[in-house]
Amino acid sequence: TENRLWGGRFTGATDPLMDLYNASLPYDKKMFDADLEGTRVYTRGLNKIKLINDEELAAIHNGLDEIKKEWIAGTFEEKAGDEDIHTANERRLGELIGKHIAGKVHTGRSRNDQVVTDMRIFVRQDLEQLLKHLGNFIVSLTKRAREEIDVLMPGYTHLQRAQPIRWAHWLSSYATYFTNDYKRLQQVLERVNECPLGAGALAGHPYGIDRDFLSEELGFSRPIGNSLTAVSDRDFVVETMFWASLFMNHISRFSEDLILYSTAEFGFVQLADAYSTGSSLMPQKKNPDSLELLRGKSGRVFGALSGFLMSTKSIPSTYNKDMQEDKEPLFDTLTTVQHSVLIATGVISTLKINAQRMKGALTMDMLATDLADYLVRKGVPFRETHHISGECVRMAEVSNLSGIDKLSLSQFKEIDSRFESDVMSVFDFEVSVERRTAIGGTAKSAVLDQLSKLESIVNK
Ligand code: ARG
Repeated sequence: TENRLWGGRFTGATDPLMDLYNASLPYDKKMFDADLEGTRVYTRGLNKIKLINDEELAAIHNGLDEIKKEWIAGTFEEKAGDEDIHTANERRLGELIGKHIAGKVHTGRSRNDQVVTDMRIFVRQDLEQLLKHLGNFIVSLTKRAREEIDVLMPGYTHLQRAQPIRWAHWLSSYATYFTNDYKRLQQVLERVNECPLGAGALAGHPYGIDRDFLSEELGFSRPIGNSLTAVSDRDFVVETMFWASLFMNHISRFSEDLILYSTAEFGFVQLADAYSTGSSLMPQKKNPDSLELLRGKSGRVFGALSGFLMSTKSIPSTYNKDMQEDKEPLFDTLTTVQHSVLIATGVISTLKINAQRMKGALTMDMLATDLADYLVRKGVPFRETHHISGECVRMAEVSNLSGIDKLSLSQFKEIDSRFESDVMSVFDFEVSVERRTAIGGTAKSAVLDQLSKLESIVNK
């Protein structure tokens, strides 16, 4: 505990459990690089205002290089009293280059602006990588959709067969969700990328450090405009976790569809072995564990968001130790989302579909709306045609026919005299799907158009 940076006014030892309870090093050491980078730029800022001379700066930077090597090699030795990554790195710098010079790096800086600078650098890096993975995932969906554009399947509402759609249309639907997530992530990144460094503990910098310089050198867009906000704002953490929650919400719906489609009852898709597991008891089983985990992990991401929202509510202005609770849920969320995107990409690029089963699940009653539309084209109001088409469905049922397409022309005419012999052309799934050419519909041209638009957003 002689290592404590704030030891000056303390005489009593802390409870050992308090040391453990207080320490964040076990989970914040993954920010070692961001912390060293922050100090590298900060000391250049101090050099610019003559608080550190060139020689001292060179020694500090050599020390920081050395520490980085130690973290990467796994030889960095953690010591009692290393509360967090900031104190650990500074303690080690003192050992390497002497306390006299190392003792200058923290001039005008507080762990309050330091920690949140590290966090923003770390999160930015992670989200940038995530954005790439998400782009690949979206492309894996659109690529598949292009390849399998001709495959028809039932579209469902209330999980009941509703109208025929293209399998590519289903893929494009989720690609649309995920592309919105992609754009939303870009916006979150913009707000993550603002620089708190130079705000001090809360009140600003007493030596007039150039905050534009710090911000720019660390790759941020701008310095945060109020020192109190700079140290206390964790909106970027909340927003990241909210982003992740909404994304996982989409992922869980996507997974749920595919889990259903992979059952023997549907038989539309088959997961690759790489993303399935077997049963220890039942030899025949092939379980869609990847999809179930994607669905299940959404819960833990929502939990992280709501937990941290509760931790931060009612925190008084500026830094309070409650805020250290930002790291574990955030880091867990980042890892979970990163892995989830990669797994989902793997699942969708290796999935086998059974186009026969998909087509086989289409039933003629799914064209009842098209039958109503047939009469609309002959000038009958839709409310009326809806009713007439319903009567056809009933007549087919009571006559024990396998579908409305099996009604004879005279039966059609019996229900409504405006039916003519061309009514039989309605009973074609391909024709039904191809009618929907308006933006966002199931026609091949409309689906291809959707795919191009999505791809152009991701490839920008
Ligand atoms: N480990 C702390 C955190 O993660 C660093 C900031 C500590 N600042 C302070 N004034 N105690 O939030």
